[in-house]
Amino acid sequence: MSNPSLLILPGDGIGPEVMAEVRKIIDWYGAKRDVTFDVSEGLVGGCSYDAHGTPLTDETMDKAQSVDAVLLGAVGGPKYDSLDFSVKPERGLLRLRKEMDLYANLRPAQCFDALADFSSLKKDVVAGLDIMIVRELTSGIYFGEPRGIIKEGNERVGINTQRYTESEIARVARSAFELARKRGNKVCSMEKANVMESGILWRDVVTEVHQAEYPDVELSHMYADAGAMQLCRWPKQFDVIVTDNLFGDLLSDAAAMLTGSLGMLPSASLGAPMENGRPKALYEPVHGSAPDIAGQGKANPIACVLSFAMALRYSFDMGAEADRLEKAVEDVLADGLRTADLLGEEGATPVSTSEMGDAIVAKLDSSL
Ligand code: IPM
Ligand code: MG
Repeated sequence: MSNPSLLILPGDGIGPEVMAEVRKIIDWYGAKRDVTFDVSEGLVGGCSYDAHGTPLTDETMDKAQSVDAVLLGAVGGPKYDSLDFSVKPERGLLRLRKEMDLYANLRPAQCFDALADFSSLKKDVVAGLDIMIVRELTSGIYFGEPRGIIKEGNERVGINTQRYTESEIARVARSAFELARKRGNKVCSMEKANVMESGILWRDVVTEVHQAEYPDVELSHMYADAGAMQLCRWPKQFDVIVTDNLFGDLLSDAAAMLTGSLGMLPSASLGAPMENGRPKALYEPVHGSAPDIAGQGKANPIACVLSFAMALRYSFDMGAEADRLEKAVEDVLADGLRTADLLGEEGATPVSTSEMGDAIVAKLDSSL
């Protein structure tokens, strides 16, 4: 059997430095676990624009379609703010999501014991938190037509369209129910059926899929604004949350912050199974490119490392190795190692991005 293949797209800002730490872990798997990945690297976002005048070349797009999994760092930065919308760094990422048809975006928000004090919420509200947001990623207002800025009389009008087909809702609902069965067996679906027709359809379709295929899973519905409030009030009431592209973008940032730092949270974007049975997949940290701290060794590589752990689990069927890597992360945190985003505790050991990566590798070593 051929080696599993990975395309690495470090991107902009802190992307390359956090990805460098993941490379150490990939190398460790080759050296110590006899799992060799065929790794290729490419450009996405602003760096691709600088080199090629586009945030994603067709060659890189084709490569992404042909590998077993894509690992992405982050895209964007103030340097690119004035670029035309069509070539902004984010367009590269959105093209990958759309053309690979990565409709289910899994964003786990887990509170590590060692970090419960970092949350802006009280410790007992977040300690032990383990929720999974499943965000629809290839449709909705991010991609709906018509869109644009048009002229109407003397003024400009900005237009975006929220649009969901039944099948788009049904497939992401299935992803959420499947995940729930392997976790706490509960799904909460969030929309705004009180003001949006697309929300009414969303609620109907999720309910239909539930009744027909997943009656064993507990399903509830919430308006997305109330959901945001409940996430801050008592997040542990949730297991899996399924929601649309835009609400999922907002709710997942809020959920991420419950856990103490955006620098901790991974994500997996999954599509339909390929010929080899693996889902089309892209893994990336939830955090952005953090241009203000880029290149200073301050970035927390854990979100990117945990994204690779999700790749082990969801693309390569290596759940035990994913557990091993997640445990290594938990152990370095328990030892008090903290990157700059997590400083402030007494007795913590401040470490740089690469020292954090090295410490995780050392924990992997001692796990053998
Ligand atoms: C995210 C980001 C992206 C999004 C941006 C970078 C296009 O905020 O992945 O949550 O809005 O989806
Ligand atoms: Mg976002």
